[in-house]
Parts: sequence; C-alpha cells; structure tokens
Amino acid sequence: MTTRLCFVCLGNICRSPTAEGVFRYLLGQRGDATPFEVESAGTGAYHEGESPDRRSTATAAQRGIPLVGAAARFDAEDFVRFDWVLAMDGANKSDLLARAPTEQDAAKVVLLREWDAQSDGPHDLDVPDPYYGGASGFDDVLDICLRSCQALLDDLEARARA
Ligand code: 4NP
Repeated sequence: MTTRLCFVCLGNICRSPTAEGVFRYLLGQRGDATPFEVESAGTGAYHEGESPDRRSTATAAQRGIPLVGAAARFDAEDFVRFDWVLAMDGANKSDLLARAPTEQDAAKVVLLREWDAQSDGPHDLDVPDPYYGGASGFDDVLDICLRSCQALLDDLEARARA
C-alpha cells in the first residue's frame, strides 16, 4: 500500500520543499519497492504558486538535490489525501491541529524532527525558519532534513514491512 506524506511549513517555499526534495532524493538513491507519494504545503498562502526560494534551491543543488513544486496552502480537505502530515515547527503543528477535521486526521500530524537523532529533546523539535536569516540557516535546514528524512524513511519502510 502506498504511504502518502505531506511536509508542511509556513510559506511552502523554504523548509517543506527542502524536506520534500530530500525525501524524494533518498527514495531515488534507495530505489526500493515501498511506494510513497510525497508532497509539501504551507499553513499560509503568502507565496501561493511560487517556486521554492532561490536560497533553498541553491543550498540543495550544492548537494545534488533538486527542489521542485509550486507553493500551496494546506487546507482541512487535504487531510484525507495523506497518511502522515509532517510539520516543520511547533507553530505549524498547532495550526494544522486546529485545521484537522477529525481526531484521526489530527493523529496524522507529527513534527519532522521527532526523527532527528541530534535533537536535544522535546524542547528542540523545530526546524528553524531560515527566511529572514543568512545562508547558514539554509544549510542547517538541509542538514536537519537529511538526518530526519533518512530516519523517517527507515521507520516508514519498517512499518510497511511489518
Ligand atoms: P518556510 O519559510 O515556512 O520555510 O517556507 C518562510 C517563507 C516565507 C515567510 C516565512 C517563512 N514569510 O513570512 O513570507
């Protein structure tokens, strides 16, 4: 059965397209049989229709990872299309929970960094928003996404086999 994921941040131009691109890249490297559908979206609609931020795209390209897509808002009716809704930070998670039509949908919402072995614990589960900062913030986002998505993929594949 196909596992359907959506990565969600605020604007859908920096963090969630990075996570989506990284997850697709890892899937491509693995070339395995477990089917996934992967998308990303934003809790806000400020950048609807825009391509990923150039700074995110350039940072990912340096590691050979393409970022694609046009920004879209995650709405209540989108929950039905996904098994997992991976929030980039606590504010995204709260916004998504407030939008979830059912308890079952709310249970799909998790923080991506729950899978980050380098998180310092429950107070350190945000992927920091790089939008108003310098280049190092974009590198940090990429590193966090690589670590977290690798572990997430391992976990979901193990669940699919179970
Ligand atoms: P993202 O970054 O949520 O990682 O896509 C942001 C993009 C745009 C804005 C904030 C964060 N903004 O305020 O326009």
